[in-house]
Amino acid sequence: MNSIRATYKKNTPKSAAAHRRAHAAVIGGNSRGAANHGPHPLTIEYGEGARVVDIDGREYLDLINNYTSLVHGHAYPPIVEAAQRQVGRGTAWVANNVWQTELAEALIERVDSFDSVRFTNSGTEAGMLALQIARTVTGRTNVLMARFGYHGSLMEFEVGSFPMLFDDHAQDRTYLATFNDADDFEAVLAEHGAEIAAVVIEPVMGGGGVVSATPEFLARVRDATHAAGALLVFDEVIAFRLATGGTQALVGVEPDLTMLGKLIGGGFPVGAVGGKNEYMGIFDPANPRGFHSGTYNANPVTMAAGLVSVRELTAERIDRMDALGERLADSLTRSAGQHGLPFCLNRRGSLIQVFFQEQAPPNTILSRDGDLSAGFHLAALNHGMMIAGRGMIALSTVMDEELIDDAAQRADAAMEDVAREMG
Ligand SMILES: Cc1ncc(COP(=O)(O)O)c(C=O)c1O
Repeated sequence: MNSIRATYKKNTPKSAAAHRRAHAAVIGGNSRGAANHGPHPLTIEYGEGARVVDIDGREYLDLINNYTSLVHGHAYPPIVEAAQRQVGRGTAWVANNVWQTELAEALIERVDSFDSVRFTNSGTEAGMLALQIARTVTGRTNVLMARFGYHGSLMEFEVGSFPMLFDDHAQDRTYLATFNDADDFEAVLAEHGAEIAAVVIEPVMGGGGVVSATPEFLARVRDATHAAGALLVFDEVIAFRLATGGTQALVGVEPDLTMLGKLIGGGFPVGAVGGKNEYMGIFDPANPRGFHSGTYNANPVTMAAGLVSVRELTAERIDRMDALGERLADSLTRSAGQHGLPFCLNRRGSLIQVFFQEQAPPNTILSRDGDLSAGFHLAALNHGMMIAGRGMIALSTVMDEELIDDAAQRADAAMEDVAREMG
């Protein structure tokens, strides 16, 4: 990886200096753990369409799109127009705005399990809110989630995402079971169900490695959750891009509550919880059983941008992105074979996770591909292509076949470097 790393350093001196400076003021160099990687992350100057440009003036095809949230790419003109119009007319006030209602209506129209919605500023806060609702409704405290699932930075969930970082005491409120193993979920619910307020699950594990839950698994978890008197929460912060009605519409299993985020903000900070009024009703002022507020909740800029983002994510565009995902996945697999690299990938629609090993591990944290993934990530940057450090790819609606073939060529060149240096 020495020459891959050396090339990266040679290409990005201004990003290196910016990172050194940032690190002195922001411990770790960035407030976002998932954006960090060695030898230093890029500092990006701007993004446009399917591309970003760094402060050294180098251009990259952006194949991660802010971890799936920029479903229409960077600075999508209809979103820019909606946001700019609103920015010029004020960005927040202690009163209502019509965009909030319109975005909520658009989501309710799309998702069968929604009677109503409430907005937050992040997916993490959506998780907090879902947990608050479940705790209030059930009178219980604990949560059950999939080991290595990701539901944001709330500690109750982080102990499941990164169990190795926490001691046993921190795990007091969180039970863990194995994703796609209904027996395991049923066993935990049978033993501890009386303490569990919510079972929280991604119908497609995003950060965990684009692992799809089977419909049978989700249906059994729903039944066991309800038998235990707990609420089933689907985390569709990422999976919502896979169908207009969310992945829940594809698998035919309705949760009680759904966490949303990312794409529904059109590139601005956002989160939301939607569900039946039986549960959401704890916030009905006529009979309040909970309080939820936030200075920037449902602010008009995010709501106006998010409305465009959701409306423009049509079934046709989702199908097109999915076909592009298949095209790219085929090219990546072919290239890896040609370069003699151990390789496999998980794909669900426009989401891809690459692994430089023969068989996909159950999730990314258990990946054992040595430095190959990290090497590919840097080599891809050297060839002008940005993916997530852990090998995740998320396409956008502004991509076409020509761009995907360009990306495939860059990935091929990156794999050649990896094979030469590390294979
Ligand atoms: C599935 C899932 N849930 C929740 C979150 C947390 O969202 P946010 O980063 O907006 O807090 C993320 C973020 O990556 C996510 O992927």
